[in-house]
Amino acid sequence: MLRLPLAIAVAASGFLFLAKISLTTKTPHPEQVTLKGPDRHRCAALKVPPGPPLDFHNRVVSDRFVQGTSPVLIRNATIWSGANNGTEIIHGDILLDQGLVKALGHIPPNLISNTPGVRVINVERAWVTPGLVDLHSHVGLLSAPLLSGAFDVNSRHGPILPWLRSIDAINTHDDAYRLAIAGGVTSGQVLPGSGNAIGGQAFFIKYRKTAERTPTSMVIEPPETLGGIHVNASHPPRWRHMKQACGENLRKYGTRMDSAWAFRSAYNEARKIKEAQDDYCAKVEAGRWSELKGKTFPESFEWEMLVDVLRGRVKISNHCYEAVDLDNIVRLSNEFRFHVSSFHHASEAWLVPDVLKRMWGGPPAVAIFATNHRYKRESYRGSEFAPAVLADNQIPVVMKSDHPVINSRYLLHEAQQAHYFGLAENLALASVTSTPAHAGGLAHRIGVLRVGADADVVLWDSHPLALGATPKQVFIDGVMQIEEPVVGEKGEWFQDAPGVPDWEEEKREAVRWEGLPPLEPKKRVKNVVFLNVKEVWTRRGGSFDEQTFDTKDMGTVVVERGKIVCSSSGSTCLSSTSGAYTVVDLKGGSIFPGLEEIAGEPSTGDGVPYDPLLGDVPSILDDSAQALRAVDALQFGTRNALLAYRSGITLGVTSIGSSTLFGGPSSTFGGLSVSFNPGAENAMEDGAIVKRITALHLSVSPAYPLHTWPSGEIPLIIDVSSADIMATLLLLKGEVEAKFGTRMRMSFAHATEAHILAKEIAAADVAVLLKPPRPYPQVWSERRIIPGPPLSQDSHIMTLLKHNITVGIGVSEAWASRNTRFDLGWAALEANGQMSRSQALALATTNIEGAFGLETELDSDLVAYAGGSLFGFESKPVAVISPARHLVDVL
Ligand SMILES: *[C@@H]1O[C@H](CO)[C@@H](O)[C@H](O)[C@H]1NC(C)=O
Ligand SMILES: *[C@@H]1O[C@H](CO)[C@@H](O)[C@H](O)[C@H]1NC(C)=O
Ligand SMILES: *[C@@H]1O[C@H](CO)[C@@H](O)[C@H](O)[C@H]1NC(C)=O
Ligand SMILES: *[C@@H]1O[C@H](CO)[C@@H](O)[C@H](O)[C@H]1NC(C)=O
Repeated sequence: MLRLPLAIAVAASGFLFLAKISLTTKTPHPEQVTLKGPDRHRCAALKVPPGPPLDFHNRVVSDRFVQGTSPVLIRNATIWSGANNGTEIIHGDILLDQGLVKALGHIPPNLISNTPGVRVINVERAWVTPGLVDLHSHVGLLSAPLLSGAFDVNSRHGPILPWLRSIDAINTHDDAYRLAIAGGVTSGQVLPGSGNAIGGQAFFIKYRKTAERTPTSMVIEPPETLGGIHVNASHPPRWRHMKQACGENLRKYGTRMDSAWAFRSAYNEARKIKEAQDDYCAKVEAGRWSELKGKTFPESFEWEMLVDVLRGRVKISNHCYEAVDLDNIVRLSNEFRFHVSSFHHASEAWLVPDVLKRMWGGPPAVAIFATNHRYKRESYRGSEFAPAVLADNQIPVVMKSDHPVINSRYLLHEAQQAHYFGLAENLALASVTSTPAHAGGLAHRIGVLRVGADADVVLWDSHPLALGATPKQVFIDGVMQIEEPVVGEKGEWFQDAPGVPDWEEEKREAVRWEGLPPLEPKKRVKNVVFLNVKEVWTRRGGSFDEQTFDTKDMGTVVVERGKIVCSSSGSTCLSSTSGAYTVVDLKGGSIFPGLEEIAGEPSTGDGVPYDPLLGDVPSILDDSAQALRAVDALQFGTRNALLAYRSGITLGVTSIGSSTLFGGPSSTFGGLSVSFNPGAENAMEDGAIVKRITALHLSVSPAYPLHTWPSGEIPLIIDVSSADIMATLLLLKGEVEAKFGTRMRMSFAHATEAHILAKEIAAADVAVLLKPPRPYPQVWSERRIIPGPPLSQDSHIMTLLKHNITVGIGVSEAWASRNTRFDLGWAALEANGQMSRSQALALATTNIEGAFGLETELDSDLVAYAGGSLFGFESKPVAVISPARHLVDVL
């Protein structure tokens, strides 16, 4: 991408030329040898482009090979190799030995018999991919569990810090390595944070434990500048890596204009040094020794990294969101002639492909989230269609975690969602393997499966793009990573890439509206006929009625004034219709109850709430409970609310209490929540507000202990993750109930460690609202997680359900609610056949109502999905049927 073939030829011949010169120069004066020999070497070496060692492809043993590792033969695999633009699929075997892929496809029997001690794993056609590569991670810098002593991500010492190195802060005890490996992630780039324009040098590491137990031993191809490592100086230099950032995160150092100047003045320093070096070397090469008398090779310890950037030896990862910022960096790259390898977050990159193509040295890769958008102003125009649009413009697409922003264990889910929203299958798989490896200059050994590549391999239980795909085993450098994996069998149906809906029209509209297409329903009507319906699920009190139609005939459902009046197989229902109906073809789709969701904040940020439990409520607001009603802060028609509605969420419960990004709740008092319909236009519309005062929300953690026990009739939702605090709360609940002789309706939200007290929680009749649905040990008080397959037999949800606890799932940030239905499908898949579909559906419907006491309030909305059921990637929500509002919204 960076080097033209011509440049490679020139530089390579320069290198060979050097070897010749050292043989043929006349024997010089001894004094000249010490001065000129090293200088000639040094000057010639400046021209050698970075890359793998010259003899890399002949290697027979990996530099990372662990002595004593047995060879492994994986038999009968469906291998995604990464070759041919990600389209090559090989049916056959893989032999891993000496830390390398030794053979692939049809393996000659004599090679196998010549590999003593080989362990054979027959995978019966299971999918096998390279280990996943996370281009953007803060693993080891923001460690799990997070403690203030392990928060090594941003320096406060200025905007320009190219001399800092993430490796100097990588915590080797982060719980996230093991969890990421359990998700198939085998390596990642550890980037400094984005609080500085140049945050420092980054390093690619492998996530497995090493015998040496050091960060150094985890680094892949450490550059010679790192020191203390053996590097063969006669080989091309290894790629170096660096983090840059622009935009909002640099506010503390001034405006965007200040950051741009900070960049330009830093690169100008580096340019001066580079020019001085080139000038010096021109004289060395010309043998003009007299002009060099008394001079030494010009260099700077501070600026050497940026000089290497200007020499094309650094892969830069640049955090940059908006068009203005992307344009700035592209101008910078042309002004100083260096390449940026990848833009990260890049919420508007998809809207400005021509800017990307103007990058000096060719377009960068773009590393993004699938659906994590609108979390700040800069990310407002981020889109689920960005991966597909970028690919349409031939821009390499990378999906990344920004771990722990997204738990890197679920990196593959980002690629799955990108695929769901239109990124081609081959590119979706490449987006978490070969494309990031290429962006990091490491595709010669990771992110691909070919003879001679590193033996980083994942065996999957299903097609990797299928929802809930889980590794059955993971190898890093040929070393087996999961001691006793527990993964169920998924069967044939899951072995193909999921069929996904057509989003072409939505994608075009998204571009046409510069990322902000209208999200309001297209049509609001009274009467609809749904054709080609496969199944209909309706609510009856706390349970579901399920009607499934023959695949051949399908069914017809007639809706009048927001109510189903007829549903039958074939077209029987049509005979009873009279008048005007809108016709919606569900193409084998379904109708399901609308989902309900709890979120931690009303769709707006309204500052830090006052906390009556800490006594800081201003006297003018002294009616404390009244002052903190979410209903008063609620905004309708926000993009997050409308996207949730378009994704099947018809009831939201939201409270004011906000969370800090990595540290849990920011106060004890979360105020009074409101339940509402996210599809309503405003608070005065019929059915817009379901219950004005739904529950009282509190957060209790070691940082925010509970001082006073609130009393009242209203359901109490306590945000708590530690099992020890849950125990205290359960005891308190018992005391209050004994004293007043009443039953308290109490739920634990967040509840990461609930499994430890499952029996007691069940006995106390406390509901559990899991946020997030799959646990992560973010902070110390929630470090004891039950990780789920392949690390534990049961998932957290299933463990709680087995104790007959009422379990709901929720989200911490509003953008995530659109993924609720996939979370349900995933929960059912993780339960390995132990969870029925109605149990899964209850997690985001009846169980949430139970916790919030909403059972009697509702005439629940229904959602129609085209192409499949609510639970999977095959379908797309197309209409909401609302009995309470007497209408159908056609989306
Ligand atoms: C790579 O695959 C994508 C999607 O299938 C396709 O659009 C693109 O043209 C391919 N690129 C090359 C170089 O073949
Ligand atoms: C590979 O596995 C499939 C599924 O178990 C089986 O039908 C097939 O015979 C196997 N092929 C070989 C070559 O072992
Ligand atoms: C360095 O690499 C060269 C060329 O591949 C090789 O001949 C030499 O033995 C290597 N030196 C060391 C110390 O490994
Ligand atoms: C959960 O409820 C079922 C059905 O009522 C019962 O059979 C089972 O024993 C209960 N499980 C526990 C752990 O209480």
